[in-house]
Amino acid sequence: MKRIVILISGRGSNMQALIEADLPCRIAAVIANDAGAGGLAIAAAAGITTLVVDHRRHAAREDFDHALAEAIDAFTPDLVVLAGFMRILTPWFVQRYAQRLINVHPSLLPAFPGVHTHRRALAEGVRVHGCTVHFVTTELDHGPIIVQAAVPVMSDDSEESLAARVLRQEHRILPLAVRWFIEGRLEVRGQHVVLQGTLPSTACPGHAIVSPEET
Ligand code: GAR
Repeated sequence: MKRIVILISGRGSNMQALIEADLPCRIAAVIANDAGAGGLAIAAAAGITTLVVDHRRHAAREDFDHALAEAIDAFTPDLVVLAGFMRILTPWFVQRYAQRLINVHPSLLPAFPGVHTHRRALAEGVRVHGCTVHFVTTELDHGPIIVQAAVPVMSDDSEESLAARVLRQEHRILPLAVRWFIEGRLEVRGQHVVLQGTLPSTACPGHAIVSPEET
């Protein structure tokens, strides 16, 4: 059975979605960069090994990334999932896990890389917003896209209401992407990800625009 390691920084709702999806893989460990991450308790309650590699204990980013890699490698994962992991990773780390490191990001990339995505989407007046699961490359929030889900932006949306609508879709597409990876269906060709086992013209379920009723 394939093994995954999940990295978190905070409440861990995406991690929880992965646990609840009951995927055909073993969640070998959940690792946080902060002992205060709420998701650690959720993982422990599910019987999953948890671990903290505190970034504050490492003066240089490189040192933290080496300590993190050492912790991850002890679990020999096939896939490392960044599920709300809020640290920028060094090229050394990213290359070490090339094509087996994925991230969920709260925008329709390449729009709004970085932080405060919902606030920026509202400020720009976009009508459609959403989330992306992608392979991680050395360029921040720019790797090959596996799956996206779009949500409408309502005229009365606040940052919080929009974030909540997007988060519900993150919980849908992250388990989907992990499932495809485990099944060996994701082939990376340059900046493109091909989903094996579908006709070239078929839209993946997660590519659909989500209607307001569904959100
Ligand atoms: C999620 O919205 C995730 O997309 C975002 O942090 C949140 C974590 O929530 N990640 C990023 O912004 C990474 N660039 P969670 O801890 O409840 O899963």
